[in-house]
Amino acid sequence: MSNTLKLIPPEVELETKRILKQLTRSHRALAELKGFADVIPNKNILINAVTINEAKDSSEVENIITTHDELFKAMSGENYDNPASKEVANYRTALWHGYRLVKEKGFLSTNMMIEIQQLVESNRAGIRKLPGTVLRNDVTGEVIYTPPSGEQEILNLLSNLEKYISDDYDNIDPLVKLAVIHYQFEAIHPFYDGNGRTGRIINILYLVLKELLDSPILYLSKYIIRNKLAYYRLLQEVTVKGKWEDWILFILQGIEETAEETLLLVKEINTLLENTAEQIKEVLPKIYSKELVDLIFYEFYTKISYIQDGLDVSRKTASSYLSSLEEAGFLISVKIGRERIYLNKGLVQIVKEYGIEK
Ligand SMILES: Nc1ncnc2c1ncn2[C@@H]1O[C@H](COP(=O)(O)OP(=O)(O)OP(=O)(O)O)[C@@H](O)[C@H]1O
Ligand SMILES: [Mg+2]
Repeated sequence: MSNTLKLIPPEVELETKRILKQLTRSHRALAELKGFADVIPNKNILINAVTINEAKDSSEVENIITTHDELFKAMSGENYDNPASKEVANYRTALWHGYRLVKEKGFLSTNMMIEIQQLVESNRAGIRKLPGTVLRNDVTGEVIYTPPSGEQEILNLLSNLEKYISDDYDNIDPLVKLAVIHYQFEAIHPFYDGNGRTGRIINILYLVLKELLDSPILYLSKYIIRNKLAYYRLLQEVTVKGKWEDWILFILQGIEETAEETLLLVKEINTLLENTAEQIKEVLPKIYSKELVDLIFYEFYTKISYIQDGLDVSRKTASSYLSSLEEAGFLISVKIGRERIYLNKGLVQIVKEYGIEK
């Protein structure tokens, strides 16, 4: 089964009755998430918290396993040495980079995909040039799929994919198209490695591009982990049997489920932010300011220098603010190398609760 990958759109009816029915549900869940995320005041808070788990889960599909605690350290300390956590941190960098590119340029091109994969894998291998890449069954080792080979062939397929992403003349629902795009990207398998992770980043970028979401907060990775065997089987059945309908339904159900879960998560974060502001006002009225609360929620951790710059106060003052917040139980400090970081206790707890490893 090599070199037979067809161009898209697929020559089958995509919007079947079953798909249309599920589409309504997926769109409803997605719109609810978008609506809530749009009105929340400090969007960065959401995005930062949500993408920590996504980076962690997406890397876990590839068996790069780390804990939240390791990851928090790797992301906040430049010299923290833990390879798996570093890869997860790379994934988040790649995701942000892609998001900014799509927002700025208003399209999603082959070159952007190459840039994203480079960041995910931290290497410059680029598009596959040498033959020999095959996908194997994890257990038996048997070759199940041989992706197209030859740089030119791959580039042609990617250019076809790029067109499919940007053209909306076919009038096919963008969520259905997302399923087609994800299959096609994985089947092209343009890189030696990192195709899964890059493909999962492309999914969210496509939602942002089509304005179904403004913030990059919907990720299928956890759903894929929960349904890994079905995910691989359904991809393969598109290739072997042309079974698009089941594949598309699988992705649409994932969008519905994940949008619902993410909505709960962002609501919880928002409530925590509001409650924390109230509590700080009450127990530490002398240091309370809205800016201070935003700063301790901007990332899941903060540092003396961030408070110093953010509030334009002396280092001593910044340091005493953070100590008071720690004493009052809002923050917990950890030393990494020579630096001390202050984790937002409540936020870290929520992120962990919604993660796979608790
Ligand atoms: N039968 C198949 N046909 C097409 N694509 C497949 C098939 N089986 C798996 N894939 C895709 O290949 C990806 C793995 O490719 P690769 O190892 O290059 O990516 P990765 O990011 O390193 O790994 P992972 O997806 O496991 O994190 C899977 O995530 C899946 O999307
Ligand atoms: Mg891999």
